[in-house]
Amino acid sequence: MRTLAKTKRLVKKVKANGKTIGFVPTMGYLHEGHLSLVRIARRKSQFVVVSIFVNPAQFSPHEDLAKYPRDMKRDVALLRKEKVDLIFCPSVNEIYPPDYKTYVYVKKLNRLMCGASRPRHFQGVTTVILNLFNIVKPDIAVFGAKDYQQGVIIKCMTRNLNLDIKIIIGKIIREKDGLALSSRNIYLSPRQRKNATILYQALRRIRYDFRQGFSDPRRAKTMMRQMIEKKNGRINYIAVVNKNTLSPVKKLGAGTLIALAVFFGKTRLIDNTIL
Ligand code: PAF
Repeated sequence: MRTLAKTKRLVKKVKANGKTIGFVPTMGYLHEGHLSLVRIARRKSQFVVVSIFVNPAQFSPHEDLAKYPRDMKRDVALLRKEKVDLIFCPSVNEIYPPDYKTYVYVKKLNRLMCGASRPRHFQGVTTVILNLFNIVKPDIAVFGAKDYQQGVIIKCMTRNLNLDIKIIIGKIIREKDGLALSSRNIYLSPRQRKNATILYQALRRIRYDFRQGFSDPRRAKTMMRQMIEKKNGRINYIAVVNKNTLSPVKKLGAGTLIALAVFFGKTRLIDNTIL
C-alpha cells in the first residue's frame, strides 16, 4: 500500500523499465465483480495497480459517504491473492488538499440517467479519475459494466482530452439469482435482497420479448415499472437509450441499452443490459 509520492516514484520506475500499466480504480469493499476487472488488467498489462479511494466528490451531502462500507484489511488480502503489483490508497487530503479547486466534467452526458438525480456525481467521478490517471499513468484502465454510464463518460473524457489510455469495460458479475454484485447490496434487508432480483428478471423479460419481435420502448418501460413496483422497488429511472450516445431510442434494436436505478428501502441499485 503506497501513498501518493511513493506511488509516483514507483510508476516512474515501472515506466522506465518499459512495462505496461493496467489500472483498476475502486472505492474498496471489493467483491468478485472488482476481482474480475483486476484479472482483465492482469491479462492485458504487465504491472497492475488497484486504487482504493472512497471519493467524497462523487457523493451529494445527503448520500451515504460516511457509511459507505469499508474493509481495508480484507480488500488488501483479496488483492494480494490476485498478485496485484501496487495497491494505492491515498488519503482524502492527498487527493483533495485544503486548497483544491479543480474539477472536470463531461457536458450533457453527466446530466442524463443517474446524473439527473445525482447532479454532481459524474463531475466527482471524472475529477478523481483524471487525477488518478495522472498519478498512476496507466496504459489501460478497467471499469465495470454495471456503472455503464460511468464507462461512457470516462471514455468520452479520455477521448476528448487525448489521454493515451485504453478504457476497457468488464462485464457485470451476478449472484446465482441474477442480482448484480455491488458493494451496496449489504445494505439490503433479507426481504429487500430477495425482491431486488426483480431487476434482472425485468431486464431479461425485455430481452426475451425483443427476441420475439417486440420493439416499443414506452411499453418496455411500463412493463418493467409494473414488475419492479410489485416487489416494492421505487423507481429512480428506467432508460431505453442508444448505448453510445445515451439518447432515447424510438424503437428497440441491437445496441439499445436498457438501464435502471431503483430504490429498495434507502438502497439505490443500478443494473442494465444491452440488446
Ligand atoms: O465505480 C466506482 O467504484 C467509482 O465511481 C470509481 C470509478 C472508483 C471512481 O471513484
